[in-house]
Amino acid sequence: MDAIDLLVNRTSHGKLKAPGPNNEQLTTMLKAALRAPDHACLKPWQYLVYEGEEALNWLGDLFAQAKQAQDPNISQEKLDRARSLPLRAPMVIIAVAKIKDHPKVPAVEQIISAGCGVHSILLAAEAMGLGGYWRSGELNYSADLKRLLELEESDEIAGFLYLGTPEYPKRALKDIDIDDFVEFR
Ligand SMILES: Cc1cc2nc3c(=O)[nH]c(=O)nc-3n(C[C@H](O)[C@H](O)[C@H](O)COP(=O)(O)O)c2cc1C
Repeated sequence: MDAIDLLVNRTSHGKLKAPGPNNEQLTTMLKAALRAPDHACLKPWQYLVYEGEEALNWLGDLFAQAKQAQDPNISQEKLDRARSLPLRAPMVIIAVAKIKDHPKVPAVEQIISAGCGVHSILLAAEAMGLGGYWRSGELNYSADLKRLLELEESDEIAGFLYLGTPEYPKRALKDIDIDDFVEFR
């Protein structure tokens, strides 16, 4: 696939099915993520990979525990929903910004860098015929989930990246007028 075509026409895929990325594809996606722009070469990144039923169920349990920690009176229905979230794809990668103290690199730059890594994973997935969807939601900002994932308090989750084989063909993209977003000054 032509690189410019990939960049200009990338889309997310909300409905994903098996097979997920194989080992080689996963390695390629992670290598792409590790080439994200990175001020002062801090490499402030960690990628947590959940693949297959056992790992995804385990992650679902952590999601449910985090929800329950936040609201001890949460309904069973909401708990079940939280538990089922990771099962929407054969693989989930949690992208984490491992925030480091640096006099010239504030946390926001490190989170942006991790976000660039997520974008690279999405692009690499699409280039290999896979699909992905970047999600956040309440759990993205849950201190309880960070604790359950054994992350540091200072870590920031950049996103939950769902990956697999697209259930449906790529949707037609609406034209976007670049003049709505760009000013030449
Ligand atoms: C940081 C971030 C978090 C997001 N979180 C969600 C989310 O929780 N749920 C959702 O439906 N879309 C979320 N999105 C948007 C989708 O990933 C996707 O970009 C959007 O549906 C537009 O589709 P497209 O990427 O094909 O243009 C998020 C995007 C970003 C950048």
